[in-house]
Amino acid sequence: MTFARVLCLAWILGAASPIALAAEGDAQAQGNADAERPYKVVNGHVDRATFRGYLYYGDLCLRCHGPDGAGSSYAPSLVNSLKKLDKRQFEETVINGRKNVTTASENVMPAFGTNIDAVQHLEEIYAYLKARSDGVIGRGRPKRIGETDE
Ligand code: HEC
Repeated sequence: MTFARVLCLAWILGAASPIALAAEGDAQAQGNADAERPYKVVNGHVDRATFRGYLYYGDLCLRCHGPDGAGSSYAPSLVNSLKKLDKRQFEETVINGRKNVTTASENVMPAFGTNIDAVQHLEEIYAYLKARSDGVIGRGRPKRIGETDE
């Protein structure tokens, strides 16, 4: 591709829909601001929502993704995944599921869109995994804010 064609392409892409792009940018920024720290953690102790996320993770996701979101031989570490995926991508994957057809073995992420527990507690599960991913809570059962350290 010549330099001129690259420039031309850049112009077309840039001019494609500046209004739509700007609107998307705004929504993104707002979403990210909310999603950035969806948990509250004080000295390693978590708020109730994040604690519920831990419990529902254990119920719904642990059998494939391993204890504490650390991953297994079957499914990826969600602690790592949330360093790359934003909240919307996370939710989309959980709701719709995903099938990896490129590998010899079939790794299936089930769709949780009809699982009422998953849908209702998705934000909390996200909060728990995000706190794990950000390194503000360790492995194992997190303590709740107000709970003693003993
Ligand atoms: C039956 C096993 C299984 C269960 C249960 C399961 N997953 Fe998965 N999940 C997978 C597999 C396998 C993949 C990888 C799919 C692929 O390679 O495309 C995956 C992928 C994902 C991804 C995308 C990771 C990335 O890096 O792109 C997210 C996010 C995810 N799972 C979240 C969850 C959450 C949250 C739950 C619980 C509500 C859950 N999963 C329950 C098997 C499972």
